[in-house]
Amino acid sequence: MKGRFFIQTFGCQMNVHDSEYMAFLLEANGYRQTNNPKEANIILLNTCAVRQKAEEKVYSLLGRLKPLKKKRPEVIIGVTGCVAQKEGQRILERMPHVDLVLGTHQFYRIAEFIETVKRERQQVCCTEFNYQLEPPQRVIPLPRQSQVRAYVTIMQGCNNFCTYCIVPYVRGREISRKSQDVIEEVKRLLDMGIKEVILLGQNVNSYGKDRKGEISFAELLRRIDKLPGLKRLRFITSHPKDISEELIQAFGELESLCEYIHLPAQSGSDRILKLMNRKYTRSEYLRKIEALRKVRPNLAISTDLIVGFPGETEEDFKQTLSLLKEVEYDTIFAFKYSDRPPAKAVNFKGKIPEDVKKERLEELLEFQAPITQRKNQALEGKVVEVLLDTNSKRGNQLSGRTRCHRVVNVAAPKQLIGQIVQVKIEEALAHSLRGRIIN
Ligand code: SAH
Ligand code: SF4
Ligand code: F3S
Repeated sequence: MKGRFFIQTFGCQMNVHDSEYMAFLLEANGYRQTNNPKEANIILLNTCAVRQKAEEKVYSLLGRLKPLKKKRPEVIIGVTGCVAQKEGQRILERMPHVDLVLGTHQFYRIAEFIETVKRERQQVCCTEFNYQLEPPQRVIPLPRQSQVRAYVTIMQGCNNFCTYCIVPYVRGREISRKSQDVIEEVKRLLDMGIKEVILLGQNVNSYGKDRKGEISFAELLRRIDKLPGLKRLRFITSHPKDISEELIQAFGELESLCEYIHLPAQSGSDRILKLMNRKYTRSEYLRKIEALRKVRPNLAISTDLIVGFPGETEEDFKQTLSLLKEVEYDTIFAFKYSDRPPAKAVNFKGKIPEDVKKERLEELLEFQAPITQRKNQALEGKVVEVLLDTNSKRGNQLSGRTRCHRVVNVAAPKQLIGQIVQVKIEEALAHSLRGRIIN
């Protein structure tokens, strides 16, 4: 064994999966993962830049690693992910005790770069974008940490340039993996006993459009759905403007495709949606939801919302509240707008004061709470299918998810991890459900 590494992950599922991938590569190169940074020879922060707070957190964590590096100078400190991509060399200048900065198209070279740092004993930074057709980061990375569910990247990057968003700048343009590679990877995961597959991309609905002759996203779902052993299929994230008729049909037809979709609305006001460059109106968004619910009446829907976008008036904000009322989301994720240069909205007029953003965020969350609660309570007494995946925080309990993505805790022995069971829901709590296995 060459040493131990510790990875801390921030941000979205893509980052979670990129971390799994880096861990896999480091293990394949003779390192062992540890959950204890104190015993690590390599400390990696896989970072998120989506809001300013997230970026500040990275710098403050790095600052706190300084004494450790002083005491044990041989420890390698590396920064990967979206802050690494955004800041590059600046991290090394501001934080001279950091050894390695690797961008979002380079993380698959983690093992190679660790060796470079060891050999040359100097700071290394690589944030080049790599648009070669088949860069190695899209070669099948196995195995996964969970024995039950697995992420599979189908594309990276984003071409949408919503005016608030930094992702297209830090992840680059859309590149889809070959469908054959995706399908091959899913097959191998199913052979390993994985039951649930979550397809990943910033904008999965535009899958394949950058590749001549490639199949559509809906067709990819159809082909994966047919693979023997697959129990559940999910994807994240889809842009409302790209929800196609074909995808809506897929929700009606495919058995493994779970009754859950994350469909970020961002705002309920047409004026703000336009300023955000979201390319759909409120009524177009609502029509897509209506069409989805028509083919899957029990579809659970979650969303992302931003409050305090530049120029957002009380009236615009009320429109967002009324969208919540109209859609009745199962859950929402809400954020205060944050300036992210070089995203365009940084230069927009009418910036909203922090205290107003805070008030609106609180109001939004309070508005949604009873809706979420009501939807959870509606499940009390019902029997639902749960895929058990981990030990719960409480002893002798297992935790799992319904097809509609709700967390359910049940009393069950560890041997049931990975099993699909029927659970009668006994109680709806604020963030989870509690139930009893009935089969
Ligand atoms: N690709 C995904 C979202 C990526 S970022 C999509 O298009 O839905 C996740 C969420 O962070 C976004 O949906 C948005 O709600 C929020 N977000 C992005 N940029 C932000 C900013 N500058 N300020 C506040 N929230 C932001
Ligand atoms: Fe950001 Fe918009 Fe792309 Fe999502 S679709 S990653 S919000 S630019
Ligand atoms: Fe954050 Fe990068 Fe994901 S900015 S949300 S980790 S794509």
